[in-house]
Amino acid sequence: MKILFIIPLLVTALVSSAAETVPLTSLDLSKMTQGWGKPQIDRSIREKPLSIGGQKFEHGVGTHANSTLWIDLAGGSERFLASIGVDDNANGPATVTFKIVGDGKKLLETGVMKPGDKARSVDLDLKGLKTLILMVGDGGDGVGFDHANWADARFVVSGAKPKALDRPMLKETAVILTPKPGPAPRINGPRVTGCRPGNPFIFRIPTTGERPIAFTVENLPSSLKLDAANGIITGTAPARGEFTLTLRAKNSHGEATRAFKIVSGDTLALTPPMGWNHWYTHYDRITDQLMREAADVMASSGMADVGYQYVSIDDCWMNAPKNKDPLRVGPLRDAQGNLIPNKHFPDMVAMTEYIHSKGLKAGIYTSPGPLTCAGFAATYQHEEQDAKLFADWGFDFLKYDWCSYGGIAKKETGPELAKFKKPYQQMGDILKRQKRDIVFNLCQYGMGNVWEWGAEVGGHCWRTAGDLGFELDRIFPVALKNAEHRAWSKPGAWNDPDYIQIGRIGNARGMGEPIASPLTPSEQYSFMSLWCLSAAPLFFSGDMGKLDEFTVNVLCNSEVIDVDQDPLGQCARVVPVEEETFVMVKDLEDGSKAVGLFNRSEVETSVTAKWSDLGVKGPQTLRDLWRQKELGRFENEFKASVPRHGVVMVRMTGARP
Ligand code: GLA
Repeated sequence: MKILFIIPLLVTALVSSAAETVPLTSLDLSKMTQGWGKPQIDRSIREKPLSIGGQKFEHGVGTHANSTLWIDLAGGSERFLASIGVDDNANGPATVTFKIVGDGKKLLETGVMKPGDKARSVDLDLKGLKTLILMVGDGGDGVGFDHANWADARFVVSGAKPKALDRPMLKETAVILTPKPGPAPRINGPRVTGCRPGNPFIFRIPTTGERPIAFTVENLPSSLKLDAANGIITGTAPARGEFTLTLRAKNSHGEATRAFKIVSGDTLALTPPMGWNHWYTHYDRITDQLMREAADVMASSGMADVGYQYVSIDDCWMNAPKNKDPLRVGPLRDAQGNLIPNKHFPDMVAMTEYIHSKGLKAGIYTSPGPLTCAGFAATYQHEEQDAKLFADWGFDFLKYDWCSYGGIAKKETGPELAKFKKPYQQMGDILKRQKRDIVFNLCQYGMGNVWEWGAEVGGHCWRTAGDLGFELDRIFPVALKNAEHRAWSKPGAWNDPDYIQIGRIGNARGMGEPIASPLTPSEQYSFMSLWCLSAAPLFFSGDMGKLDEFTVNVLCNSEVIDVDQDPLGQCARVVPVEEETFVMVKDLEDGSKAVGLFNRSEVETSVTAKWSDLGVKGPQTLRDLWRQKELGRFENEFKASVPRHGVVMVRMTGARP
């Protein structure tokens, strides 16, 4: 017995004596992500000697919140040692937190550290661990001045050496959470639509269920007619007023009814517009054929059945003074001054008629400047003429993108805000005079707090920031920033955090060919949930030609879309829970609430939504919206385990006490 006891001790001693020290600086730090600058070896982010609470360190890594490094330990490391804290040269109100996670378990969390705090010594047992994540958080107040040091950071290694890994590390399986729509009809999408009296009207009743479906509508104004076989309502918008209809859809499996309102007056986009925009997939490769393909797929994939409606062209449909594609080069305008589409668009009227024939609507793009952002012909000094042309061509939506107008504005005198408003006010007025309902989408990246005046100049939705681009790890901060403007979100006036980029999308950095979205499945669910809770316009901008089943499941959950399309038009309120978790809560028209529990951290985490934070009292009945499943009754809080960068989204309705 004694001998058996001694042998393991000897083995341990042998392993330890063979152990070597591997400094953190020897790992490939280009894989470390951080909020500002690049990781520094043996110096701070400001390229000064590492110093924490007055103590100097010769070695270590200087980084900046928010920072993450994934490390493959392969079970070969015994310990991790370091001295951590805020660098003495941060020169400002820094607040950082350090966190270390091993194989999904929290090994260390510092709480907020500030400039001058003594370095905290770290000595962690890593035996047997496969992966380690070193993280620096911003203390919940933004990343300003958050200079953080992993001083003297080193591994004691007895086997495989630690290696830096690419993110995201977790190979998540793409799980389809939502049951497929059943064979019986369900009417989806908006419950209200706005129109202007006397203008052409088109609305396809979004309905899931096995075809053929027979549609009927009660109280349809006499200027409108319904195609009973496909549920498309067309005609002329009725005289000013509110019309309450009952939509019915019937097949051999059952019948669905829904109350629906047509509000004929001054305001369009009474719910956030939904559709597809070509930009993040096709860039300057867009053609008439691709637009028609998008319309076909919108109708056949189920997207139109849950409310997607606009098929929108972005930049590059005009001619450019110069371009690598000779078919996109030519005269910018004809002898009458009309814009000339490039040779990839032989017949704009035929294209919009094709889109309309499916009960869908068509969107177009230009800039108030002389050229668009991609250098194509734009609208400066042709505003009346272009708006009329777009209306005559049959477009129902205009994205008006600032681009080269910056050069014009610079030459003008007067207050900056007036300069920001001017081109949008001008086009807003012109669009109202067209004999066509054209939803006006302002794209000027949030300048002059556009959310405060976008509706006043005739806009229906406005981008609140620059392009989301391919930096998709920004979906959380972008959505949270956008939600700060929630006070301005209302029917006919929507804050727009940019397009939904899931499925296959182009790499915006080089306007590249479509590739699989870099987002994990959980991040894709979060993307859609954040946008729906924010009452954001829902424009998918991925590849319609290669829609896969998972992407359709994320885009087309009718109950999640009901949250986006709710007639109250409220953008959810954000309630921080912990540093990396938060809840969003949105009031819905029927008195229920939509609630998203979000986890921005690198590991699965439990998130609690407390009634006191949500502004509700008494027992609630909860339904999981992604799984479309009843969860039962909860008394004063709801707690869920939320995947890394993921969401749990519920609808809660007051239950009888
Ligand atoms: C800007 C806009 C994008 C897109 C491009 C087209 O960057 O913000 O959404 O329209 O221009 O060039």
